[in-house]
Amino acid sequence: MCGIFGCILKKGLVAPQILDGLKRLEYRGYDSIGVATLHSGIIEIRKDKGTIQEVTEKLKINEMKGTIGIGHTRWATHGAPNMINAHPHTDTHGKIAVIHNGVIENFLELKQELIEKGHIFLSKTDTEIIPHLIEEELKQNKILKLAILNALKRLIGSYALAVISSLEPDKIICARYESPLVLGISNDGLYCASDVPAIRPYTNKVIYLRNGELATLKVDGYEIIKISDSTVIHRDFEEIEWTLQESEKQDYDHYMLKEIFEQPISLKNGLWLQEQYVDLLTQFLDRGKEVLLLGAGTSNHACIAGSYIFSKLARLTAYPVISSEFIECYGSSIGIDSVILAVSQSGETYDTLKAVDHARMRAATVLGLTNTVGSTLTRVSRAYLIQQSGPEIGVAATKTFTSQVIVLTQIALKLAKLRGKLSQDELDEYEKNLYNIPYWVETVLNRTYLNIKSIAKKYKNSKLFLFLGRGISSATAMEGRLKLLEITYIPCLAYPAGESKHGPISVVEEKVPCVFICPKGSTRSEIIGSIMEIKARGARIISICEEGDSEIIQLSDDVVEMPKGIPDLLSPIPYIVPLQLLSYELALIKKLDPDKPRNLAKSVTVP
Ligand code: M6R
Repeated sequence: MCGIFGCILKKGLVAPQILDGLKRLEYRGYDSIGVATLHSGIIEIRKDKGTIQEVTEKLKINEMKGTIGIGHTRWATHGAPNMINAHPHTDTHGKIAVIHNGVIENFLELKQELIEKGHIFLSKTDTEIIPHLIEEELKQNKILKLAILNALKRLIGSYALAVISSLEPDKIICARYESPLVLGISNDGLYCASDVPAIRPYTNKVIYLRNGELATLKVDGYEIIKISDSTVIHRDFEEIEWTLQESEKQDYDHYMLKEIFEQPISLKNGLWLQEQYVDLLTQFLDRGKEVLLLGAGTSNHACIAGSYIFSKLARLTAYPVISSEFIECYGSSIGIDSVILAVSQSGETYDTLKAVDHARMRAATVLGLTNTVGSTLTRVSRAYLIQQSGPEIGVAATKTFTSQVIVLTQIALKLAKLRGKLSQDELDEYEKNLYNIPYWVETVLNRTYLNIKSIAKKYKNSKLFLFLGRGISSATAMEGRLKLLEITYIPCLAYPAGESKHGPISVVEEKVPCVFICPKGSTRSEIIGSIMEIKARGARIISICEEGDSEIIQLSDDVVEMPKGIPDLLSPIPYIVPLQLLSYELALIKKLDPDKPRNLAKSVTVP
């Protein structure tokens, strides 16, 4: 939610680099953008509602002077997306400019206090109180860093922020609490940003700022301190392994399509996990009296798939829980014997981290599965695994879902082995199939895309889609539904197929498309029954089934045929791919940008 970027260069204009950084952070929000630079001792701000390209062209942001600057791309939380509410925000005299990602929960109270002291506010944002608080603190304390520290201590909520000031024009001061912030170190300058891809074109040396830390960046170096007591923290940089190319669109029209097609590679990478960490997670899981799989959105769907996999392979009951419901539902019952495996691509999702915090307070063991090295989830987990998907920029999660499922399967297999729940032959067979997954996905990508394009054209005017599957395929159905509705805005329903007769079937009428996910498996006869029930009500049946499955093919209006031999339990990985492509194609037909669905942001770091 919101992307922030700051940069201080030894020489050259900073504005083009800020714009480039913001483009790479656009996935975090795209309601408005703004840039502030410092030159000749004054702060200049250009900002407006609209995309980076529109606002840059209109306001000629790339021509702004100065070697120090900050920029922001917004996902509105407080106040409509318009020019006044766009960041940066300033104090009364325009001497302090602030960009912010997060939510200040006590802003109304602080605003009232500041108004009583004579401060005038222009925007409806929570952020605007920050420069005014700093201004107020500067009256007592002339040093910018100390004024910022005092101001931060008054904030309740979450923030990653960066400040520049004409009073001390040689620095950027940035800080974080609950929202992510990373520093970049290069020979040409220093950077701060919400995420690594924004900095990656300029350096591979990064430092992940931790909760409650403040950094001062100057051309000749940086200093990190704790906000609570100003203790200096000595932390060296880490080197990022992935290349710039990996976080760029290359020849694809959209990140989403690129990321869908990257799955054979990301899945192969997901098979190269460090054995000792998988063992560690497995041991913790084995000791748990109860195991909960925690996640939001797509990560929750990976957890639903994971619960079937853990149960069937390792004979372990693992409940999938939606992060935002965790505290209400299980907050009072979990304790020292509970193990929580939190799954989060970003490792920064507010709902997931809040649930994790609660679990830790109750002495539960927290484990993590994330795609983001250095994320908060890695720091609060007792042990964690990195899923190795590489950067995912499209707001709709694609390759990170399949990676999460492949990693959860490996953990379940280890656990099955540890608990002696599968024979060596069974283990070998699953392992062999697991290593086949990237090839199956590659085959699906090569063989089905044209067919899916024509299915998308056929159903482009449908006002409702249903997704149904049995067993583990109900997780695939839910993820297929989420993909379609989040990037095409078409209302969709998804249910375990057996549930359809308990209510959802009432929405079925002539020509409503109903997508059935039907790999060959133990639920086969039931899924055929469900197809017949829905078909009898006039729905159009789109089946994702095994190649040559004549019974299903005959019942269907449209079919996507999948490679033979994919075991039911591993099916969510290849079977989600046609649904990702279908959503992408329908978004294009509707002339929507699949990378930037309305009202959404990649990383949801607010309550
Ligand atoms: O970073 P996380 O995996 O914790 O994110 C969770 C959800 O916000 C995310 O999966 C979201 O639902 C995506 N838009 C799905 O495509």
